[in-house]
Amino acid sequence: MSRYYVTTPIYYVNDAPHIGHAYTTVVADVLARFHRLLGEEVYFLTGTDEHGQKIEDSAAAKGLTPIALADAVVQRYHALWKRLGMTHNDFIRTTEDRHQRGVLKLFGEITSRGDDIYKGRYEGWYCKGCEAFYPESQIVEGKCPDQGHPVQRLSEESYFFRLSRYQEPLLKHYADNPSFIFPETRRNEIVSFVSSGLKDLSLSRTSFRWGIPFPGDPQHIFYVWFDALANYITALEYAGSQDLYRQFWPADVHLVGKDILRFHAVYWPAFLMAAGVPLPKSVVAHGWWLRDAAKMSKSRGNVIEPNSLLDDFSVDAVRYFLMREMAFGQDASYSDEALIERCNSDLANDLGNLVSRTLKLLENSFGGVVPDPGSHSPRGEGLAPAAQAAWNGMVGGFKEYDFSGALSRVWELVSATNKFIVEKEPWKLAADPARRDELGWVLYDAAEALRVTGLLISPVMPRAARALWGQLGLQRDPAEESLTEFEWGRLAPGTRIAKGESLFPRIDKKAYLARLGTETPEAAKPAAPIARETNVDEASIDIEEFRKIRLRVGKVTAAEKVEGAKKLLKLQVDLGDEVRQIISGIADKYAPEALVGKQIVLVANLKPATIRGVESRGMLLAAEDAEGRATIVTFDEAVTVGATVR
Ligand code: MSP
Repeated sequence: MSRYYVTTPIYYVNDAPHIGHAYTTVVADVLARFHRLLGEEVYFLTGTDEHGQKIEDSAAAKGLTPIALADAVVQRYHALWKRLGMTHNDFIRTTEDRHQRGVLKLFGEITSRGDDIYKGRYEGWYCKGCEAFYPESQIVEGKCPDQGHPVQRLSEESYFFRLSRYQEPLLKHYADNPSFIFPETRRNEIVSFVSSGLKDLSLSRTSFRWGIPFPGDPQHIFYVWFDALANYITALEYAGSQDLYRQFWPADVHLVGKDILRFHAVYWPAFLMAAGVPLPKSVVAHGWWLRDAAKMSKSRGNVIEPNSLLDDFSVDAVRYFLMREMAFGQDASYSDEALIERCNSDLANDLGNLVSRTLKLLENSFGGVVPDPGSHSPRGEGLAPAAQAAWNGMVGGFKEYDFSGALSRVWELVSATNKFIVEKEPWKLAADPARRDELGWVLYDAAEALRVTGLLISPVMPRAARALWGQLGLQRDPAEESLTEFEWGRLAPGTRIAKGESLFPRIDKKAYLARLGTETPEAAKPAAPIARETNVDEASIDIEEFRKIRLRVGKVTAAEKVEGAKKLLKLQVDLGDEVRQIISGIADKYAPEALVGKQIVLVANLKPATIRGVESRGMLLAAEDAEGRATIVTFDEAVTVGATVR
């Protein structure tokens, strides 16, 4: 069985986790789950980086010992990872004995192999925020070039690592292994950084105590990055039985944020080369979550707390948002609006409604039992090709770290299934006993497409995928299935569905933003139209009369001109449980294609009429402009198709 070892960076314990940390770990978890579905034996490691000056200072500022601070913060990581449904196999803390022994062993290998370590004096700039040394030339107004943290002047005795010696071997490794650093733009940055020359690296510190003491010279403690990077092998019992180390090293992927790529793609491979340890197969860097165009970080005070998001949104919604919204490798801006939009549009409207609509149709027509598709599926007409395309897109995309693109391929299947139902009109088929077989295959295909969708979304939304399968009557968890081969038709006819709670509840955007206090201020809203004088002759109606009018949300799925009538359009309007054809006099303002996909308000209980020989079953609401042209009434955000408008 092939093996797959994926790691996250280990997180500093100076503060609680934020959404940036959660992102790296969610991506690693998604990769771990995906590779398990590919039948690989996966080892997924995360943990905490507990030594260093930053932790020592933070603890002192809080009146704690460093280990007391680490013990407290590590609990928050454990709790958050549990809440986010992480499936890591191990969690390493750098204060653990197995780690410290591993660091000493790695260092011992380096010293025993040559003269890569020597004693000298470090004179220069140190950034405590990054726990990194910077050359004079890179300091900008007393701040580090990467993150703008204040730097301090250091002058201390230090052990050095002969990094300069590894410039050529590293460049050769990058050239021989083009997939060692991903994405390519980052790879180019590293190549040019290394090409411009490498200075030896200070490997020990003497001005504070919170670290692993140097063997034979305990005045010195290990530079925190040497200590931290070693976690990827120390967790595999590198200094113990080495069982896991033999099975899983070299790692397949070290997943990191772009800010720490240099440590992983330059220092770490150089240390490993010096110790004669094989190099990891790849280092994959993602971008940053930004808030107001700045990196989200505790020191800037602009962080999003994952726990507070999880109080309001389901774990699956948060995971989906993180994976869908960020184009992997690039930066992305976090916004509450975008998260709500993903929840309401992609999850509740597109997928959630499709599930409830399909299950309802199965209940109404087949007593809640999956019908036999029989041999009636006309070749190439069913949903199998769309499902195969989604499967290819998802598997291919995930292998390339294009999670966002992969998920949009899956959503193409969701749309295709929605469209299929609209076009096949199962509610009409149900009314015609002679077409029962056709109804059977239409609903079978829709249900089977949902089974495939459940499997494809399971690495990202494990709970919703399990619940979706449960509602389809499947006892198994998609996590136990295989993604190695596309299979169509695994949903057994005769399966009894188990319709349940809606999978993706809608979020009330207004209420949510108002509670957070981030709603658009009144002054920024468009000016309210000037009220016309009330027409005193207009008779008032009471609420009961108004209630007689059934207004419903409809989605235009098709539109075309009515021949010989300049102003008329023929629209197909999806109401969730049926599709209505209506005729509307709006062609002077709207091109047919501009209407497709729009959500409108439909007077649903208007008596049918025949206009120019075409049946119209409803009327859409619109306002008349000064030229007498109609502007349709629509919604300022996506709403549930079929919902009542009051
Ligand atoms: N302790 C080091 C890593 C040592 S690995 C041997 C460290 N820790 S960290 O807690 O500061 O950051 C850990 C990870 O979180 C990094 O990959 C970093 O890129 C990521 N993120 C922190 N803020 C982030 C965003 N705003 N957006 C996305 N990820 C970012 O560095």
